[in-house]
Amino acid sequence: MAEKIGIGIIGAGGIAEYAHIPAYLQQSDARIVAVADVVPERAQALAEKNGIPRAYGTIEDLLLDPDVEAVSITTPNAFHAPISSAALEAGKHVFCEKPPAISAEEVRRVKALAERSGKTLYYCLNNRFRPDVMQLRRYVQNGELGEIYYAKTWTIRRRGAPGGWFANKQMSGGGALIDIGVHCIDWTLFIMGNPQPVEIFGVTYSKIKKYDLEDHRTWSPPEVRGQAQMDRAVDVDDMATALIRLDNGATLSVEVSWSLNVEQDHENTELFGTRAGASMRPLKLFRDEYGRMVNLEVKMPERPPATGHSRAIRNFLDTIQGKDKPVVTPDDGIRIMQILDGIYASAESGKSVTIGAKSLVEAR
Ligand SMILES: NC(=O)c1ccc[n+]([C@@H]2O[C@H](COP(=O)([O-])OP(=O)(O)OC[C@H]3O[C@@H](n4cnc5c(N)ncnc54)[C@H](O)[C@@H]3O)[C@@H](O)[C@H]2O)c1
Repeated sequence: MAEKIGIGIIGAGGIAEYAHIPAYLQQSDARIVAVADVVPERAQALAEKNGIPRAYGTIEDLLLDPDVEAVSITTPNAFHAPISSAALEAGKHVFCEKPPAISAEEVRRVKALAERSGKTLYYCLNNRFRPDVMQLRRYVQNGELGEIYYAKTWTIRRRGAPGGWFANKQMSGGGALIDIGVHCIDWTLFIMGNPQPVEIFGVTYSKIKKYDLEDHRTWSPPEVRGQAQMDRAVDVDDMATALIRLDNGATLSVEVSWSLNVEQDHENTELFGTRAGASMRPLKLFRDEYGRMVNLEVKMPERPPATGHSRAIRNFLDTIQGKDKPVVTPDDGIRIMQILDGIYASAESGKSVTIGAKSLVEAR
């Protein structure tokens, strides 16, 4: 391996520009050698802006570049698994944006390829690295909450659907649930010590389709930025709710929306254990001390020194070099996709689904 790991960026859109490229530029043992996009001008513009030596208009050309040792995949969701597979087959390590794929079955296939190639497969579940997530996880790991038997997590936006390809099921695999539900479900299970889902009941809605962008504050792909009003959820969910039974006996309740008639955006995880409860945003613990309930407020940094993306990329580079264990494994990718598959399958059938049942993947 060269002194600095050669990185190729595949997909020259928003997350590449604002999160992946700045994160790699901070690392002393990595250098971005190439960027590719199906819109060649986007790749060219991003390369020029960031001093990246080569820009390609096809993924194949980037994967043939011998200086590229690892890739960041920052394309729409439907391409995550096919591009991960092509990159692993070309002998590159893979850092792939969330969601890991658009089904658990796809992740299983990509994992098998990674095992055969001996290369690292890492999914960008960057919110695991948030200081509040890490801190709450420490309390849980040290038994401060006792047995956690119930948990709630939610990411609610009142007007925040991205539009564009995010609202096209073929490209995205789903709406609010796969886009932002992926994060809050994943970080909650991570905090809880990675219990496995056993049964899922889910419901999805697609109700609030049009609104003025004056009220709208979110991430949008380049092709729809600047439009005054548009269809926000075309054939995908803009709200989802689910109840997930876990193999340790606990239950997780989930609520996610891109668009909802609600007072304000809000996001949190709450845990309820036999020794204490906790609320993550802001981080607080609730417990009985000498017969009185006590609320413990944990002071967290207002501005974390590093972003979740830069911490995840640091851990990816260390994993490649055998210096650290991955915080996110391919099995984590399978588990989160099993849950998302399960919620969508349950929403479609109106019945709960059992994980491991053959129908789960086929129902999508
Ligand atoms: N981790 C996070 O917090 C986070 C935040 C935002 C987006 N994301 C994820 O990042 C990915 C990209 O999102 P974005 O907002 O940057 O989208 P975007 O639309 O801004 O960028 C996607 C880019 O990929 C290019 N592209 C499309 N198909 C391609 C292909 N087959 N090969 C190469 N390039 C292709 C497009 O031309 C575009 O430039 C999505 O999967 C999204 O879920 C993650």
